[in-house]
Amino acid sequence: MLIGVEQGQNWTMYNGDCCIVLRGLEESSIDLVIHSPPFSSLYIYSDSENDMGNCSSDEEFFEHYKYCIKELLRVTVPGRVCVVHCKDLPKYANVYGTTGLIDFPGACIQEFEDAGWVYHSRVTIWKCPVVERERTNNNGLLHKTVKRDTSQVRQGMADYLLVFRKPPASGLMSEKSVTRKRGFDRYIGEAGKATISIRRLTAASRRPKIRQSTFGEDTRSRFGGTCAKQMYSTSNSRRQKTTKSTFARYSSI
Ligand SMILES: C[S@@+](CC[C@H](N)C(=O)[O-])C[C@H]1O[C@@H](n2cnc3c(N)ncnc32)[C@H](O)[C@@H]1O
Repeated sequence: MLIGVEQGQNWTMYNGDCCIVLRGLEESSIDLVIHSPPFSSLYIYSDSENDMGNCSSDEEFFEHYKYCIKELLRVTVPGRVCVVHCKDLPKYANVYGTTGLIDFPGACIQEFEDAGWVYHSRVTIWKCPVVERERTNNNGLLHKTVKRDTSQVRQGMADYLLVFRKPPASGLMSEKSVTRKRGFDRYIGEAGKATISIRRLTAASRRPKIRQSTFGEDTRSRFGGTCAKQMYSTSNSRRQKTTKSTFARYSSI
């Protein structure tokens, strides 16, 4: 079922059932896959049979999702990655007879590995437990549970990005390797927060570890480009002075 296609320079956007759309894509033609599948049957998105979230059990969900996982492997360039957004799922007492968590990321890893992907990396996205409590009213997050039986209290749940790599045809290099000859040249991340923490550090003149690099290429590659650029954009004489002494300290490592 293909609902629509839009095209522009260097891009094509398909609106439709991904299991069907993927089948029409050329083998080894996709450089990066990123998606957020339905978290099994946690939410209902539509009553369409094509909707993977429209399932009665985790088994049924994975039976459907498997087609997508297999096709994604086929269309991805060897050595390139597929990123899957997911999280643990709550167990409901009325379904499972007890509360607890289901290791949905673990089940995804198993399915991807079974299909031939390599589990490559995982990013943890911190989520505020108070927001989760507001949304779900989950017993394990309520203050009244603290008072009644603290053993039922649990952590808030994080989100994850699971990163899978399509095995390269040979060796470890991607078939279309991504080269960055100068390493990272700009800070990618929570720039606002990072700047604040650097200011605090500067004021305190302590914990110098992240003030590693206003020193250009060599230092950047030595300590990692992200902190380097971050420091670049916040230069002042005092900070540079501290940074240099920090560098002197680190250069002996
Ligand atoms: C967890 S949500 C992701 C939502 C999305 N990340 C966002 O922030 O809007 C999963 C989405 O996958 C869609 N979906 C389920 N089965 C699908 C299929 N076979 N083809 C395409 N999309 C599907 C659902 O309708 C739902 O919108």
